[in-house]
Amino acid sequence: MCGIVAYQGPHDARQRILEGLKYLEYRGYDSWGIAVRSETGVLNRVRNTGEIGSVSMADLKLSQARDGIGHTRWATHGGVTVKNAHPHFSMNKKVVLVQNGIVENYGALKKNLEKKGYVFLSETDTEVIANTIEEYRKKHPLKEAVRRTMKDLEGRNAIVVMEQGSQEIIAARNGSPLIVGVAPHEVFIASDIPAFIAYTNTVYYLDDGQMVCVKDARPEFFSLSNGSHVARRKITVDIKAKDAEKGDYAHYMIKEIMEQKETTRRAVEQDEQQLKKVADMIDHAYGSFLVGCGSAAAVCKLGEYVFAKIGNRHINAVEASEFKHFSGFLTPRSLMIVVSQSGETADVIEAIETAKKKKVKVIGILNNTSSTIARLADYVFPIHAGPERAVASTKAVTAQYAVMTLLAYAVRGDIAEGKRLLVEVAGQMNDLLNPRYGQYVKKIAKMLVRQEHVYILGRGVNVPIAKESSIKLQEISYIHAESFAAGELKHGPLALITKKTPVIVLTGNDGDTIDIISNAKEVQARGGVIIGIGPHKHEVFDYWLHVPDVGELSYMVNVLPIQLLAYNLGILKGNNPDKPRNLAKSVTVK
Ligand code: F6R
Repeated sequence: MCGIVAYQGPHDARQRILEGLKYLEYRGYDSWGIAVRSETGVLNRVRNTGEIGSVSMADLKLSQARDGIGHTRWATHGGVTVKNAHPHFSMNKKVVLVQNGIVENYGALKKNLEKKGYVFLSETDTEVIANTIEEYRKKHPLKEAVRRTMKDLEGRNAIVVMEQGSQEIIAARNGSPLIVGVAPHEVFIASDIPAFIAYTNTVYYLDDGQMVCVKDARPEFFSLSNGSHVARRKITVDIKAKDAEKGDYAHYMIKEIMEQKETTRRAVEQDEQQLKKVADMIDHAYGSFLVGCGSAAAVCKLGEYVFAKIGNRHINAVEASEFKHFSGFLTPRSLMIVVSQSGETADVIEAIETAKKKKVKVIGILNNTSSTIARLADYVFPIHAGPERAVASTKAVTAQYAVMTLLAYAVRGDIAEGKRLLVEVAGQMNDLLNPRYGQYVKKIAKMLVRQEHVYILGRGVNVPIAKESSIKLQEISYIHAESFAAGELKHGPLALITKKTPVIVLTGNDGDTIDIISNAKEVQARGGVIIGIGPHKHEVFDYWLHVPDVGELSYMVNVLPIQLLAYNLGILKGNNPDKPRNLAKSVTVK
């Protein structure tokens, strides 16, 4: 959460930073701010609430500069106000900084600083960092002051600092991502590569416990533990600026939904040796866990079903934020399979760290293969979905389903069959990703748009798809959407059904169909309106969203009409489907 961009070089820092922040808006869009340093070393700052997407150079009211730092915020400590927006100055206004992350012990640090006479202007933990640097600066050079400050902080974060009169930009990382991009005579520092990909694809990854000092547009790397030099390897990344653009589409979300035929096909391109090796590890493991958050947690739940049904293995799915309650069951014979699009999710990282302490091998099903989680995992299966910029995950989710399915087939010893089925499904997705189908979904969206509640039912592999459907509908339409395993209905939730309550029923062509259709009838008998999703029309459906018959893999296609429905509902309600309120794409705080 929160996006950071810093720039030093011969070009206009304001422009480079503003442009970079617009690419990082998916990380937070409550408020924004930029600070630049003039040729004479004077610091100037502009901050505002709202999204940076519509801010122009003229709005900045900053004079041209060769270096600067910027931030787009997802509020953690303190409300969404200009005072709480980054960058924050230290009390003497000589230090200015941006932070991505959380300072867990900021209360204690703040008290100490207040005793020394520091006065705070915001409610943020970030101002505490700025004043701690100011305090250390009384006795130490800036680099050492930053290093000592970072050592005082508890929690996961990354900061970028400038000082009045100096020519350095200093950044440090302890838990939140920071990447240094280099081009001739210019250096970028950012939370993610798209912020500067238009200018360079040559990067250094900063690891946790490291800092970078940029002077004369040259980066030098140091250890946070003792300040000594560390060597970093320059890497050329294979990301193209156009992959991160939305092209002719109105929103990233619909672009990413439409890409799923290709992304599903790409997801099956996995290293067969690694698939076999990990399958063997799964076969011999005992007490293994699937771990993720949000939509990725629902993918893990699907994993529980597909490993049971296809691979005949029992693996427990646990939300990463709840994992600590089960960590006592980890032994060196356990495995942890983590699922994450961003590869930066704080709760997942914490679960991995727990696993590593117990010598558990970690397998990552990941989109961002240069992320923190990718570097922590022992084996990585890249999902190859390409940059996903809409906050709501769509193409990454289906690619994760595909990789999970392939892994389950690998456990069964039949990778070729898994691939064949998935490639076939990818082809059949065409039936759903076309304007005619889109128009029909829109009609259903119009019928639902004024509803306050919608329920989604599934059985078997469609239980996690019902969960994913509820997440998609909640975040894009803001309608209360809740999922249930259909068999659970008469144990409580059936009491919620009254006349015209909309209930989405996910069906397939499998052993669960008869049972879920009877559950749908029970709902209809109580006045509920049934929106059926599945390959066959059943009498009980008041509305039917047809999907291709893909047998046991119905989860691969059933989620697509839901994504389209959520998108259309968002549009009809005047919401921005790419930026749901209160959310951010990369959740780097617990
Ligand atoms: C929902 C959504 C989130 C993410 C979750 C985990 O559409 O995108 O629920 O799935 O925040 O993020 P990653 O996959 O980056 O770990």
